[in-house]
Amino acid sequence: MANLAVKALGLSNPFVVAASPATQGVYAVLKSALARPGAVTMRNFGHGAGDGSIVLPSTADMLAGKHAIQSHALGASLRDPFPSLEAYCEAISQLRRDMPQETKLWVSIGHFRDLTTAGRDWRRDWVREAREAERAGADALELHFNTPGVAVSGNRLFDFYRLIYTATRAIKRALQVPVLVKLPVESCDPLRAMEAAVHGGADAIGPTARWKGFVFDLDWRRSLATPGGGYGGSQALPIICYVVAEARLNGIDAPMYAGGGVFSWEAAAKLIMAGSQCVQLGSFACCLGPNAVSRLIADFAAWMDRAGYRDLEALCGEALQLFTLPPAMAEERRARLAAANQAAQPDPNLCTGCGQCVDVCWYDALSLQNGLAVKSEACVGCGYCFQVCPTGALQVPAGDVLASTFTEPLS
Ligand SMILES: Cc1cc2nc3c(=O)[nH]c(=O)nc-3n(C[C@H](O)[C@H](O)[C@H](O)COP(=O)(O)O)c2cc1C
Repeated sequence: MANLAVKALGLSNPFVVAASPATQGVYAVLKSALARPGAVTMRNFGHGAGDGSIVLPSTADMLAGKHAIQSHALGASLRDPFPSLEAYCEAISQLRRDMPQETKLWVSIGHFRDLTTAGRDWRRDWVREAREAERAGADALELHFNTPGVAVSGNRLFDFYRLIYTATRAIKRALQVPVLVKLPVESCDPLRAMEAAVHGGADAIGPTARWKGFVFDLDWRRSLATPGGGYGGSQALPIICYVVAEARLNGIDAPMYAGGGVFSWEAAAKLIMAGSQCVQLGSFACCLGPNAVSRLIADFAAWMDRAGYRDLEALCGEALQLFTLPPAMAEERRARLAAANQAAQPDPNLCTGCGQCVDVCWYDALSLQNGLAVKSEACVGCGYCFQVCPTGALQVPAGDVLASTFTEPLS
């Protein structure tokens, strides 16, 4: 069995059920812990009621990658279960007693409104909250800098990176347990934000791909969402993979628990291959519950075994090789694919003569003759025609062609 432990953070596996309705209050945290993730991050105290937190347009659409999601929407407002910091800390103590030891209890503190409320000494408040949460038994503290729009809220000129740095440093100095810094990729330079956290002493960083968004219907009066934070979805995954890879290639080597658009074990594997040790599960956990999280973890572990990865270290960052291919190899991949594209001829048995390939050929290399597509020497191998062919009459096994560059001698 592959070893799923994340040594750098002392986790039994890389999955973190992230701060959300799935982690707000004792009942929700315990329920999320049933899936035995590596950690559950308890949603921050003082979040307040107000914004509803649901996913739109539907879980089925979210899983099918059909549509973005919007966490802050109309509907039931979530009650803040904690009237005071004392009550929050009592809950932390109870949770640490009742949760399985193998799942870490991460505790989120802070909120972007704190940063912009005039006259409030938010840094002092955060340090106090962090100290109390640590005393109550939190395994790690997470600083909540990620809410979409945080970098521009209030005053567009305020120095977000300095805030991250000074807050991280102040809290790190006050605590013994690890300090985790959850960051946005929106409205800021994610690389600079990560650097600020690392320089402040963060034990791990959690870049999180979510944006302010505006989801609405043509009949806008029927729209459920409110304009604002929480736009994400499967389309966020390539972006967060890029952010993680860019950080790794720029020398940021702090442990990472990135998130955004992970709705399957495959997506989790990709984010880890891009260089993140751990993976946040936000919408997925909220929308599907602990059994689905548990299945996702099991499916991920089964794939690790099938694919022959002994442990997470073997997997983490593997795809970074695609960024750093030697130029000769990169050129060979390009050339082999272009040659295969050029060589492929329409299969007359599958062609229906629909003409879509002719429509999309920018080199006048495709024409219809006797109701069938015919390709001429003018083809440059760009590949647009393969994308539109509805019957597979024009196709190329692109994956095999590309993989061959790693197993066969370069030309
Ligand atoms: C409904 C909902 C509410 C959320 N509320 C919070 C929050 O209060 N604090 C926080 O740090 N992150 C919050 N998040 C973000 C998640 O912790 C996590 O970073 C994010 O959902 C990961 O992206 P994903 O939803 O695409 O998996 C929330 C997410 C959702 C879906």
